[in-house]
Amino acid sequence: MKKYDRITPEGTKDLLFQECEAQRKIIETLRDRFEERGYREVITPGFEFYDVFSSNSMYFPQESMYKLIDNKGRLLAMRPDSTIPIARLTSTKLKGHELPIRLYYAQRIYRQQPELRGKSSEIMQMGIELVGLSSFESDIEILTAGMEALSSCCVDDFRIELGHIGIYKLLMNNLSATPEQKEAIHFLIASKNYAGLSDILEAFPENHTVALLKELPRLFGGREAFEKARQLFNGYDKKLLDILSYLERIFQGLIERNFDKVMIDFGLVHQAEYYSSLIFRGYISSAGEPVLSGGRYDELFKDFGENLPATGFGINVDQLAISLLKGSEAKRLSNRQDGTLTQSNGKIRIALTKGRLEDSIVDLFENMEYDCSNLSKKGRKLLLSIPGKDIEVVLAKAADVITYVEHGVCDIGVVGKDTIMEIGGIFYEVLDLGFGKCKFALAVSKGSDFYSGYSTKRIATKYPKVARAYFESKGMDVEVIKIEGSVELAPLLNLADGIIDIVETGVTLKENGLEVIEEIRDISARLIVNVASMKLKKTEIDELISDIYKRIRGKDKGLR
Ligand code: PRP
Repeated sequence: MKKYDRITPEGTKDLLFQECEAQRKIIETLRDRFEERGYREVITPGFEFYDVFSSNSMYFPQESMYKLIDNKGRLLAMRPDSTIPIARLTSTKLKGHELPIRLYYAQRIYRQQPELRGKSSEIMQMGIELVGLSSFESDIEILTAGMEALSSCCVDDFRIELGHIGIYKLLMNNLSATPEQKEAIHFLIASKNYAGLSDILEAFPENHTVALLKELPRLFGGREAFEKARQLFNGYDKKLLDILSYLERIFQGLIERNFDKVMIDFGLVHQAEYYSSLIFRGYISSAGEPVLSGGRYDELFKDFGENLPATGFGINVDQLAISLLKGSEAKRLSNRQDGTLTQSNGKIRIALTKGRLEDSIVDLFENMEYDCSNLSKKGRKLLLSIPGKDIEVVLAKAADVITYVEHGVCDIGVVGKDTIMEIGGIFYEVLDLGFGKCKFALAVSKGSDFYSGYSTKRIATKYPKVARAYFESKGMDVEVIKIEGSVELAPLLNLADGIIDIVETGVTLKENGLEVIEEIRDISARLIVNVASMKLKKTEIDELISDIYKRIRGKDKGLR
């Protein structure tokens, strides 16, 4: 019997009627905008030789690509991005063509996504590439085209945020870090994890480079961010001040051309490694993730034997189509009088972890003089308001807090580091709240010798990803068994040789005849923020973060 003949694979979907209309509307609007600016359409194959995407530099992790084998046994990859195939096309079919070359595309890209996180593996993307120019005007051309594209398609407010990958690259060149440390620092800057970044940088001698790296993720906002950055960059390599001046010129250039929905983030570090200098992102208020991403990539063509400067961006058409549909739906609902809550209506929505962390969170809010009466007598209600504040609170299980924040339906979340390590996701981790403290540890039955014998050890855990990563870092094969709760039972019943779990007081282990043999790392509650909210509701969120910070400082130092 066929099992999968009525459904589509995870990460893909059918689009029907209004969804198709919304998508077509966006595509036609963008097509008009791009063609008016002299861009001409190209289409590259849906799949290409794997070598195209892994030439001299590995731009995409191989696990994120869908791969096929052709009839000669050669490895192919479904297009994970359009910029690289367009660089290939330009270096071959358009070799020697008069410069500059202006190209646009409207095609799907394919990327493997983590399981069950509500992310699309097939994305309709439109974008432009301007090849052969490296001038200030060409950067302005691309940015104004991006802003014009968003303003002509969006029912929402939008912002473009500028950054420069040269800042990160220069600082990292001056830090003698191992490749693993560099990868960790990149991640911590990208996720604005101030506390984690400070911790990892403790291992390096204190100097100007380290001080700048620590500050980098905080350097974002409007024009005032330039002044702050200038003070910090003063006295450092002049190249850094040159980058700052260039970004300021671009910022000013956009405003003079009446494109004022612009922000700056000196800590912006794109994932695609082909970017060489200016980078940028676009946000709209109804999408929790960037809908536009681009920058200058002057080195990429070298992989295809050419030396051409280029810049461009890609827009997530699916997200814009969803926002268009949500806009019409919101209009329809605003005529309804039943008071059903559908959107956060400019309020800050906070997702809090139920259970273990709940009391400490209520304590913190009471400390901040929030009226927590609705929280204390909530009954079975899950969506609560804080009287007198433009804040709504959602109570959810830890993993769901991450999901709500990642998707942007909640702006902020309070969740344990244990869940963050297990679930992962894309959000900013801005504050270590200092409560909910415990440890990840490896525990075994008292007196047993975990490492003896040749058999592959079995580990029971509620945190399979953390357990796997821990033993991988030791180069040790283990069998991991996922347990949903009271994991201490597994060794007692001889299902496992050990457990990886959080330990707070140690009472549960003790009462069940287990003992810690290795402490893995400290855990505490964290404040996480959706990436788009952080930019679009900056004033309100900054205020809340600094209010929280003031309350927790003093209770535990060095938190931020
Ligand atoms: C956690 C953890 C341990 C216990 C440790 O479980 O998984 O079982 O707390 O705390 P202790 O060191 O203070 O004894 P939790 O209470 O979250 O319940 P669960 O195992 O049912 O998920």
